[in-house]
Amino acid sequence: MDKEIISGSAQETITFGEQFAKENLLGGSLVVLRGELGAGKTQFTKGIGRFFGISEDEISSPTYTLVGEYDVLYGEITKMFHLDCYRFEKPEELLELGVEEYLYPKHAVTIIEWPERIEAYLPEKRIEVRIEVLSPNQRRISISANQRLKPNDY
Ligand SMILES: Nc1ncnc2c1ncn2[C@@H]1O[C@H](COP(=O)(O)OP(=O)(O)OP(=O)(O)O)[C@@H](O)[C@H]1O
Ligand SMILES: [Mg+2]
Repeated sequence: MDKEIISGSAQETITFGEQFAKENLLGGSLVVLRGELGAGKTQFTKGIGRFFGISEDEISSPTYTLVGEYDVLYGEITKMFHLDCYRFEKPEELLELGVEEYLYPKHAVTIIEWPERIEAYLPEKRIEVRIEVLSPNQRRISISANQRLKPNDY
């Protein structure tokens, strides 16, 4: 499942994130979001959150905690984890957080901003989302996955 769209606004990116979640996410899904500062990674995450019924205000870059943890109830999915690795100085900090639970979620989905900081630890089984800034309000969002997604994608 490879997909590319152009978003013309933050709202559109949120809507796209919501649609993306609906079509692709299962318990155990790991999503990494790549893109420069201000690209729209958190907006996209708000869209995923919206799909799970989490309000936009609850989702922000987890400044102090590094990881946001949300209870959700959607089929087999009971949690959404949102990690922002920007401030990781050393990838070892991830180990202190309890990496297994986040990188190999069981009945949860994990979304990671700034996965570059922990590249060596990323499981191969993941969905890659790349957001490129084309102009102040335009973003190219590309999605690719090296794992089987929901069966109706095939
Ligand atoms: N098409 C668009 N999609 C997403 N965001 C947009 C778009 N157009 C403008 N923006 C603006 O770009 C900013 C994106 O911020 P956001 O916090 O989502 O970026 P980020 O990639 O998470 O950055 P950071 O690396 O700092 O966490 C917001 O201010 C948003 O309003
Ligand atoms: Mg962010």
